[in-house]
Amino acid sequence: MHIFHFFVQQNRGFMINNLAILASGNGSNAENIAQYFANDPDVRVKLILTNSQKAFALQRARKMGIPCAYFSKEFWQDGRVILNLFHSMDITFVVLAGFLAKVPDIILQAYPQKMVNIHPSLLPLHGGKGMYGDRVHEDVLRCGDQESGITIHYTSEVYDAGQIVAQYKCEVKPDDTSETLATRVHALEYEYYPKVIEGLLRGSL
Ligand code: GRF
Repeated sequence: MHIFHFFVQQNRGFMINNLAILASGNGSNAENIAQYFANDPDVRVKLILTNSQKAFALQRARKMGIPCAYFSKEFWQDGRVILNLFHSMDITFVVLAGFLAKVPDIILQAYPQKMVNIHPSLLPLHGGKGMYGDRVHEDVLRCGDQESGITIHYTSEVYDAGQIVAQYKCEVKPDDTSETLATRVHALEYEYYPKVIEGLLRGSL
């Protein structure tokens, strides 16, 4: 092989990011992110994992031809098998998208500043253990907030408390229900989560 060709290949290899996405439920963000990077030569969604056998995210992954797997609570708590899987697949970056189990410390420590989560409110408001799904939007409405939005943050040992990477806002309308507010917040997630991940991978954020 020509030395220049070899060098370019080495460099390309260095730039390639292999993503694992963790999702517990519907998986619409997981699918959106996978579609966003589908034609990107430098970013591959290599794996979608879940902690729920019923997660629709598994069906979405199969439809897209992305390897996927369910791991039981014991495996998630221990973390070693999942970490070995990540290493064997050269996973360089981990994305949580509606993932409700706690990420074991052993995995957190292996991906410092290389693992992000999205929360459907403006953290630190309406976050923490038990704050997920409609509960978040119901809490926003109960508190009479004028605005809500999304927070993308690095994962840490404490739920929803990692360093914030980006936040995007939307209004809360007087006649909002948790469903209408969720739809508005989801739209922000679909627009910005892939872009923020891309920014982190390319070092432009
Ligand atoms: C999103 O609202 C996300 O912010 C939260 O869980 C929800 C997941 O939705 N963490 P989906 O499974 O991607 O449809």
